[in-house]
Amino acid sequence: MKKIAEQYNDYIYPKPITNMQKAISEDGYVDISNADLFWEKFYPEKEYKNSLNVFIAGCGTNQPIYFGLSNPNWNIYAIDLSENSIAYVKEKLIENNIKNVQIEKQNILDTNFKNEFDLVISTGVIHHTKEPKKTLTKLVDATSGDGALSIMVYANYLRRGVYDLQKIFRHLKIEQNKEGIEFAKNYIENIIPKYHEAKRYYLAQKDNYDSGIIDTWLNPQDIAYSALEISDLISDTGAYFQGWFDNVFCYPNAILYGVEVNFKLLDDLNPLEATDFTQSHILQAGKHEFILRKKKEFENLWHNISNIKETIKVKSSSFLSVSKELDLSQKLGGQLIYLKHNSLLSAPFNFKEGIIWSIVDEVSQKSESIVIHKLLEKCNEFSKNNNLGMTFDINELKQILHKMWKQEIITFSMK
Ligand SMILES: C[S@@+](CC[C@H](N)C(=O)[O-])C[C@H]1O[C@@H](n2cnc3c(N)ncnc32)[C@H](O)[C@@H]1O
Repeated sequence: MKKIAEQYNDYIYPKPITNMQKAISEDGYVDISNADLFWEKFYPEKEYKNSLNVFIAGCGTNQPIYFGLSNPNWNIYAIDLSENSIAYVKEKLIENNIKNVQIEKQNILDTNFKNEFDLVISTGVIHHTKEPKKTLTKLVDATSGDGALSIMVYANYLRRGVYDLQKIFRHLKIEQNKEGIEFAKNYIENIIPKYHEAKRYYLAQKDNYDSGIIDTWLNPQDIAYSALEISDLISDTGAYFQGWFDNVFCYPNAILYGVEVNFKLLDDLNPLEATDFTQSHILQAGKHEFILRKKKEFENLWHNISNIKETIKVKSSSFLSVSKELDLSQKLGGQLIYLKHNSLLSAPFNFKEGIIWSIVDEVSQKSESIVIHKLLEKCNEFSKNNNLGMTFDINELKQILHKMWKQEIITFSMK
């Protein structure tokens, strides 16, 4: 089997997006590590600024072009082990006249940055290194004191079957070449039984092209984590877990409805335990996407309701659409669709929740956010103006907002 650098040299990954400008402007292509778009997820305490110093570690083929084009005021330094990926990126940088990206062949383990970057992005890389914790520590060292890291590692829930197949292909000495790719595809499509967990992953995977097959099924160095194991990965690296990028499949609130569950029993779980609990139902996660910070004060931010003060600001999340409108005459709260998750429906709002969300969303449509105490005023005004005879109190409001945060319906920030 080839070593990891050779593999990504022979099979550059991910599949190159040949016209990135079009992908961004016409197809709505977004990389979730784009802190410009999701500012309060990364830096909830900071005023927005668009000129970040950014390190992309293990950048692959698309990220330098995407961020170079989307974030022209960022100063970007990107590295990768794969010479061919770098050569491809360099060509594209010239073609797109991108001037704010510097790219080099380098191993993360050979870097020695200290507190230099506002944002460190490493998605789909750490789990391919021999010593993931050592690799992550290098990235944390490179991050400035008030900076953030955007990390993605494989999650073992959806990938359970992948490792069975990797093992089988290793026993059979299947090589990383054209024949090996065809052999793997045929094996997964026709030989393993329909109920094998690998089948679900294979069918869910959008990139079953050559490099994608190699990357998943014939990868020599690849581990996946349960949510609980993320805690071990992060410990002693100098960083703290701030939060998941997307809470939908990390808290049970978004997926468990229509069943009597005592959610209070789950309140003592930390975010990683809550995710493990949730994923044990749905096995939906093939990756964990999370944000790390270097200050302990940001650890598990917003997970504890005690952090939701009246001065905190609220905004509706991205990638949502209304499926059922708030209905004042019937006193129905409405319902949302998660656009990023194959039109998964959110739990239906009760009437009060629907009113709260519609006020938050109206503000968010103007790219603004609303302070919780102001939101409380607005909810009570709304009730009065529409003769609803309802009163909203601050503790109830905080509880509803916290639940909505767990459902990825709203985001919080301090600024
Ligand atoms: C699965 S790809 C992900 C690429 C990119 N981050 C993305 O999300 O599109 C992993 C990339 O990490 C690179 N890589 C793996 N280990 C590395 C290391 N120790 N130092 C630098 N790059 C590494 C590989 O060469 C490959 O291009």
